[in-house]
Amino acid sequence: MPRFVFNSCFGNFFLNGKPRMNPLEQLVTQAHADFIDAPDAAALENAKAKYLGKTGQITEQMKGLGKLAADERKAQGAIINAAKEKIETALTARRDALADAQMQLRLNAEAIDVTLPGRGRSVGGIHPVMRTWQRVEEIFGSIGFDVADGPEIENDWTNFTSLNSPENHPARSMQDTFYIEGDDSEGKPLLLRTHTSPMQVRYARMNKPPIKVIAPGRTYRVDSDATHSPMFHQVEGLWIDENISFADLKGVYLNFVKAFFETDDLQVRFRPSYFPFTEPSAEIDIAFGSGPLKGRWLEVSGAGQVHPNVVRNMGIDPEKYIGFAFGSGLERLTMLRYGISDLRLFYEGDLRFLKQFN
Ligand code: FA5
Ligand code: MG
Repeated sequence: MPRFVFNSCFGNFFLNGKPRMNPLEQLVTQAHADFIDAPDAAALENAKAKYLGKTGQITEQMKGLGKLAADERKAQGAIINAAKEKIETALTARRDALADAQMQLRLNAEAIDVTLPGRGRSVGGIHPVMRTWQRVEEIFGSIGFDVADGPEIENDWTNFTSLNSPENHPARSMQDTFYIEGDDSEGKPLLLRTHTSPMQVRYARMNKPPIKVIAPGRTYRVDSDATHSPMFHQVEGLWIDENISFADLKGVYLNFVKAFFETDDLQVRFRPSYFPFTEPSAEIDIAFGSGPLKGRWLEVSGAGQVHPNVVRNMGIDPEKYIGFAFGSGLERLTMLRYGISDLRLFYEGDLRFLKQFN
């Protein structure tokens, strides 16, 4: 703290041969001491009033000047002013010192303890359904399937009619969905696609056979329970060439599930079913030879030989080309792989659940 030093300009009084301060010099010394004693800003302002306030001692001295003769008044005025300036300098120094001390207290209180352990940065992870999506792409990619992507907002023709499900076809009611305001070019309402099957037609109309593609993506239905959610994922598969048969579907799909579940200890069953866009049609079930699900048949996919009407809608000659298609649920494959009984867990965002996959 800067100590207030002052040089005497007041002249010294001598008493018994010893120097003695004049009264103004004493006043400055007293003010300086009072300011140093003030513990905070409020006390300092009170101490200031004692000297520089309306009735303060310096102010009173100034008032007394009027009674002096002109030349004396000038000399005494200069002395009083010098004392006043010293007191003001001392006041400012103490004000700054108190403010510094206050700041130091705050800095100490808010100091960061650099020895505390860090908060760390948590690492994000891949969602289990996305992990399945990636695995499916890798496995089919390894046997020469292209990967295609398409719109989630579809028109009526591509989602239904081109797939041999004309308007009022009863099979449409199995896939109730969400309709969008605004019409397609035929004046029909747009909708959120109910399956990835429209990608069969979209891809085939843009590529010449042989066609060998998978199309994973989001799909939507008015569904909600432990095994159905309103938004879910499917992967479509399509292989069209001059001589692709149901036997190829069996071979490809069996190899896929063995690679996906990383076991040879499973069986694949094709159970007769119905889809307007395939003929014949089947549901694909699998059963594991061991583990908690041992011996239980579980549906993973719809499939079949592509219906000639659909091949025609692809712009391909059904007399020459033939092939198979399948549509598998990615949530269903994920549930089987990890033994999860309720698909809603995938979409609740509970980290305790999601962290188990990373
Ligand atoms: C279809 O959607 C057909 N497009 C599949 C197909 C493609 C057949 C090509 C023939 C040729 P399905 O409605 O059965 O079929 O659905 C296929 C799979 O999607 C089901 O096995 C199931 O795994 C999954 N799935 C269907 N609805 C839901 C839902 N709401 N939530 C979660 N998964 C669902
Ligand atoms: Mg089904």
